[in-house]
Amino acid sequence: MKRRAFLQRLYRLVWAIWGMIGLWGVRRYLSPREGLGSSLGGFWIRAGKLEELPPGKSRLIPLGERAILLIRPDEERLVAFSAFCTHLRCGLKWNPETRQILCPCHGARFDLHGNVLQGPPRRPLPRYSVRVQNGTVLVRREAV
Ligand code: FES
Repeated sequence: MKRRAFLQRLYRLVWAIWGMIGLWGVRRYLSPREGLGSSLGGFWIRAGKLEELPPGKSRLIPLGERAILLIRPDEERLVAFSAFCTHLRCGLKWNPETRQILCPCHGARFDLHGNVLQGPPRRPLPRYSVRVQNGTVLVRREAV
């Protein structure tokens, strides 16, 4: 009888551990790790402090297989786009002198709304919502 009770407890313990591992995996799948900053448990990710991104500068935010190009073109504005060109997915760069987003692969240029100004891409850049909360820049995980 003691042996049977012990085996039943052991059996329940093993199933409880498997259950916790399964729940942990589901939770991790639903909120994947971010490269920069951390998830807020929803749709927004932290993209650093506003004071660390001076006007005219940009920052690349890794986001799993994607990446976001966060740009602060001037004191008041923050914009965020996919960091990959809509033509053949080359990495984009912000040029503060021309105030355009450039693709080095085939010379595409995008404006601060993500519209194509020049080059082969036919689609504008996917745009992400940005807000500032308590001095921290937050970028919405999904493009709008
Ligand atoms: Fe950007 Fe071709 S990949 S223009």
